[in-house]
Amino acid sequence: MARDIPHIPGHVAVIMDGNGRWARSRGFPRLEGHRRGAARAREVVEWAADAGVRCISLFAFSTENWARPPREVRGLMSLLATMLPREVPAMNENGVRLRVLGAVEALPERARRVLDEALEATRGNERIDLVLCLNYGGRQEILAGVRNACREAMRADDPDAVLAALDAVNFRQWLWCADLPEVDLLIRTGGERRISNFYLWDAAYAELFFSDRYWPDFSREDFLAALDDYARRERRFGRTSEQVRKAR
Ligand code: IPE
Ligand code: IPE
Ligand code: MG
Repeated sequence: MARDIPHIPGHVAVIMDGNGRWARSRGFPRLEGHRRGAARAREVVEWAADAGVRCISLFAFSTENWARPPREVRGLMSLLATMLPREVPAMNENGVRLRVLGAVEALPERARRVLDEALEATRGNERIDLVLCLNYGGRQEILAGVRNACREAMRADDPDAVLAALDAVNFRQWLWCADLPEVDLLIRTGGERRISNFYLWDAAYAELFFSDRYWPDFSREDFLAALDDYARRERRFGRTSEQVRKAR
């Protein structure tokens, strides 16, 4: 059921942070935090779909997370490989279409295989897009975009003209996120106030929401509070408040 608030963000992106601290504070190994975090992720997608959000991105593994202890990296990869296939039936029931963002070719073979299978199995679903951000880095994405744009220019008769025609709007076509809606609301749990290399291009005008809650504790009420907060924001994109109100 759609909620009765005026401005539902079309695309919510979430930095699911605090799994490790959640586990440590209870005397559990960090991986238990990741397990609980994955279960929470599944619920949040449901809450988002119920609220009328059309696309939700979940930051599951950053390009920088390879620097963690090998055991934790292996644990995260195997969590993905075991959990994702189990989620597919529920995703199909709930109209969740899986998408991935990031340099997935560098993931272990098993993880790539389950991702491919889940992408294929859910491709016809239309209620909400779930974008799993895996081996994702915003700087890496922008670099890849620059390379794509340069390749296009090199193929053209007048490379300088192609590069000169690039602007802050049309450059997005070269990014990994090109066919996703722009991020409207970026949520980070776990108490840190930083972007950690997530969606750098879209962060330019996304609304930011920080929660002190560790990700496994992030509740439906917390999520709805973020949506309510977003609904009260005035997105001005450089204009004045008067201009924005007049344009409504
Ligand atoms: C986020 O939780 C999950 C991943 C980065 C995979 P963390 O593992 O970063 O949890 P904290 O920040 O150590 O508590
Ligand atoms: C960001 O969390 C990455 C993910 C949630 C996947 P981190 O815990 O890795 O971020 P930093 O290292 O604290 O900035
Ligand atoms: Mg963290």
